[in-house]
Amino acid sequence: MNTDTLRSKFERYVMSTYSRFPVALVRGKGSWVWDVEGKKYLDFTSGIAVNSLGHSHPMIIKAVQEQSKKLIHSSNLFYNESQVELAEILVKNSFADKVFFCNTGTEANEGAIKLARRWGRANGGRYRIIAAHGSFHGRTMGSLSVTGQKVYHDGFKPLVPGMKFVGYGKVKSLRKALDDSRVCAVIVEPIQGENGVVIPPRDYLREVRELCTEKGVLLILDEVQVGLGRTGRLFAYEHTNVVPDVMTLAKSLGGGVPAGAVLATDEVAVHFTPGSHGSTMGGNPLAMHTASVFINTLIGDGLLDNAARMGDYFLDALSSIGAKYKGMVKDVRGMGLILGVELRSADMGPELFSSCLERGFLYIPTVEKVIRILPPLNVSTEEIDFALEALDCAFGELS
Ligand SMILES: Cc1ncc(COP(=O)(O)O)c(C=O)c1O
Repeated sequence: MNTDTLRSKFERYVMSTYSRFPVALVRGKGSWVWDVEGKKYLDFTSGIAVNSLGHSHPMIIKAVQEQSKKLIHSSNLFYNESQVELAEILVKNSFADKVFFCNTGTEANEGAIKLARRWGRANGGRYRIIAAHGSFHGRTMGSLSVTGQKVYHDGFKPLVPGMKFVGYGKVKSLRKALDDSRVCAVIVEPIQGENGVVIPPRDYLREVRELCTEKGVLLILDEVQVGLGRTGRLFAYEHTNVVPDVMTLAKSLGGGVPAGAVLATDEVAVHFTPGSHGSTMGGNPLAMHTASVFINTLIGDGLLDNAARMGDYFLDALSSIGAKYKGMVKDVRGMGLILGVELRSADMGPELFSSCLERGFLYIPTVEKVIRILPPLNVSTEEIDFALEALDCAFGELS
């Protein structure tokens, strides 16, 4: 089936919730993917921060094959080895004492919101949650209600009550919002990926932590996009020594197989009791085993260091491109392997993307004028150079 046939079949049979690129992918290897017509692309979308080991990584293939021969799904009515193995890895490598497993980022944030409300109910009847403008936490009703971008709310109101928004990176407005004994938690992303790779001021997370501690409310960090090595550390919070009470993970966690997690300290986790929350597919042995293999490979193969080093290399080179085309580029930013190039005008976005597509380079156009780049964490300098060349030519063509 060629791209045009696939497109028309999608139009006929699939609900139209996505504006898709005119590319139909059939296979991938490492940082590269191939479309149905056989064209090869450098995939720096990584399935939106999912394929952190690239495509068809041998360890992921082996994990899926081995586990699928043993037990794909069993349900949480029974114990299974794969789930507790992953929980132990996550606990031993983070601030957390306990883990709840689910399947996606939005589901992880739903879990975190519910856990915070259970904790709040037991701690003075608190229920309000403070989130940041510009945030993205997911599309189910709870996560959507703490997502601070109006565009995603359109047509879905009324949202879940009891949520309040403050400016991202602004401690003053948070301090004011916390002057409310009904607040149980603050939910925040260490970097706002979906909002165009927005990196807050250096001391922001530490100050948020201090305010939460002072007011006795929970700090929930949404590391769905930036956790698990993306920033060059296993968790983004490690850059600031800020320890949350709750953290959510998903995207890359399952090595491409759907998996999400809510991590919490014992003091908070104790408020999830049998029957209070659950997920039929969450903690499924196939996803859990693949996730354990993914994290062990990430740590064992030195990929955190690679992400940090390649990130520095990429950011330096992108900054040079930004300086060369400063009439078109407003800002270049990033941490590890989440990088953003902000254009001065959204108008040039589509042309720039088409030009890169033509050259076989894929990135994620974000909030209309940010080029969001999310390479796999095992990316090489040669691959980064390919992307730089494509971008340089695309900007050159437009100038
Ligand atoms: C920070 C953050 N949280 C939550 C989500 C939602 O994840 P999912 O699409 O897996 O529900 C995303 C997705 O982009 C995200 O970037």
